[in-house]
Amino acid sequence: MDKAQAKQQIDELTATLKEHNYRYYVLSEPTISDLEFDRLLKQLEYLESQFPDLTHADSPTHVVGGGVINEFETVKHRRRMLSLGNTYNETELRDFDSRIRKAIGDDIEYVCELKIDGLAISLFYENGKLIQAVTRGDGMQGDDVTANVRTIRSLNTELHGNYPAEFEIRGEIFMHRKGFEKLNHERIAAGEPAYANPRNVASGSLKLKDSGEVAKRPLDITLYHLLGDNLSYKTHAECIEAARSWGLKTADTTEVCKGIYEVLRFLEKWDQRRHDLGFDTDGVVIKVNSLSQQEELGYTAKVPRWAIAYKFQTESATTRLLDITYQVGRTGAITPVAELEPVFLLGTTVKRASLHNANEIERLDVRVGDMVFVEKGGEIIPKITGVDFSQRTENCAPTIYASVCPECETALIRREGEAQHYCPNEDGCAPQVIGKIEHFVARKALNIDSIGSEMAKTLYSKELVKDIADLYSITTEELLKLERMGEKSAQNIIDGIQESKNIPFERVLFGMGIRHMGETVAKKLAQTLGSIENIMQADKETLLGIDEIGDVIAESLITYFAEPKHKALVERLKEAGLQMEAQTKTQSQAGTSLSGLTFVISGVFNKMSRDEAKELIEAHGGKCSGSVSSKTDYLLAGEGMGPAKLEKATQLGVKIISEDELLTMIGESTSTPQSAPPDEPEKPKQTTLF
Ligand code: IVH
Repeated sequence: MDKAQAKQQIDELTATLKEHNYRYYVLSEPTISDLEFDRLLKQLEYLESQFPDLTHADSPTHVVGGGVINEFETVKHRRRMLSLGNTYNETELRDFDSRIRKAIGDDIEYVCELKIDGLAISLFYENGKLIQAVTRGDGMQGDDVTANVRTIRSLNTELHGNYPAEFEIRGEIFMHRKGFEKLNHERIAAGEPAYANPRNVASGSLKLKDSGEVAKRPLDITLYHLLGDNLSYKTHAECIEAARSWGLKTADTTEVCKGIYEVLRFLEKWDQRRHDLGFDTDGVVIKVNSLSQQEELGYTAKVPRWAIAYKFQTESATTRLLDITYQVGRTGAITPVAELEPVFLLGTTVKRASLHNANEIERLDVRVGDMVFVEKGGEIIPKITGVDFSQRTENCAPTIYASVCPECETALIRREGEAQHYCPNEDGCAPQVIGKIEHFVARKALNIDSIGSEMAKTLYSKELVKDIADLYSITTEELLKLERMGEKSAQNIIDGIQESKNIPFERVLFGMGIRHMGETVAKKLAQTLGSIENIMQADKETLLGIDEIGDVIAESLITYFAEPKHKALVERLKEAGLQMEAQTKTQSQAGTSLSGLTFVISGVFNKMSRDEAKELIEAHGGKCSGSVSSKTDYLLAGEGMGPAKLEKATQLGVKIISEDELLTMIGESTSTPQSAPPDEPEKPKQTTLF
């Protein structure tokens, strides 16, 4: 293929894939299957690897995100970012309508929009390209979070159609409940406290310093306020319609309402339906549609007179805070808990609510003795939403956060940049040790179901088990000495422990309960690095080279294995006979031509994925390792391989080979590779592009 043909194909594929991204993420109306999308993407990847200089800077093949920001620059808003006045009932809303009609007459059209519970963002576009994204901050100035905002898949950073040369558009960044629950599920599995609600995670995500990490968070955006000089639109609805036509995501629930009666009907409808939306809304924003009427109404010092928020009633109750206690998780994370005077809320009696962390206590300024508002939102755990300050008594002392662990009295620590306090006494703090045992025997880890929560406590308190490796030295005799322990139960426990020795390595790794390491990460690590030895030896660069592994997990692993006691624990688990290596798939054993050879794989390949390359090497008797060392025989080098690996391999004289050379080594001619290369991509279907 000559360069001109390649250019045409790359241009067409880039545009086609961009359109499909837009249909998928913005319109939620995909027109091709994921499989077909991946096929087109692979074709483009292939062409780009052959003609790198023809690659578009914003090619859909580029991974979104990446790059670490040390400080977010504070930026002054070009136009102040105001908040909205609130109304909580029909009377207050009718008052708003009366004020407006008094000022401009009865012929009023309103626009009703759902008030998404996320965080406000202001975006600047110049010549159709996103140039800046700034948080609301104090309304006068906010943080420049452009790199992070760019990772939001439903945000178009390059517009189409007839957009103004310069404009600002504001909207809400939020997270769907499903994504939030998944994230929390992973956090709990990794031994970390659950996030409070989708809003907090969305807002926390935007402040992450590594945009690669932000890209992993399922954030979404809806835009609702267009601003600019000399815009030709007459109504708010037209502005939103125009923004949508440029490829920006706007709400599809918005309605134009003639008069307050239609507004009330909208409120009634969404008060019911909001629970089915999949994301949190806390009300409806009602805006005067005509822009000239908006201008006429103007602003008070704080809020526009032409818009108001109507807040949905939430199920809440008021009760007294009797005490604040602290719970210790298996990783030592401390969670403050509000002990409440029992109160009936939505069918259950609430006695406790999570206060999350010290920041939350400070934010609420909640004190023992206060009357507090308790709510049950979308979350299962009730939350304290505020304090009724009018009922605060004088002898109510400010809350001083715990300084020592409630269980073992060790001084608590708080790592820089983290909200949570931790008890560092991991081996001597009962709930931590018991929690680790419970985690280790859990179904998704070593699956020793004859040991439940109570048994874990007993084993620890009777000093039979002080850490997970001790499980493998308990005897039937010792168990039989325990109260109410029959022979059958004792045998079940011993059998369960015995059987756990067959549990695959990835689950042993998960069971070890290393901070931040959930099931998915454990699986990925086990698959990629193959053995506990390789994981313990892996340096940060190697770890970061693995999908799913970011800075936080890499750091956590390195810190964990730097401790001699953890190395000793691994030794004891190994001696006990646990699986400490990933099982290679025996069915794919295809030859022995690579036996005794160790490979390191780096970069991406045209004819196979990295996982396929690893499988292929192992199927021919070779071994794969994560980092280059004197034991490495070959470095299998692909496109964009890590420079550090290349340098080390060169220094150590490790042979560097291509995928074709590997295929030759195993006796597969390069003309019959493992998976068909995306030869000459067929001409993509003719699609109308924007
Ligand atoms: S309009 C001057 N529209 O609610 C206009 N705000 O309580 C100000 N919000 O800071 C905003 N959905 O974060 C507007 N459809 C919507 C909204 C919305 C959510 C948030 C926004 C704002 C807050 C005001």
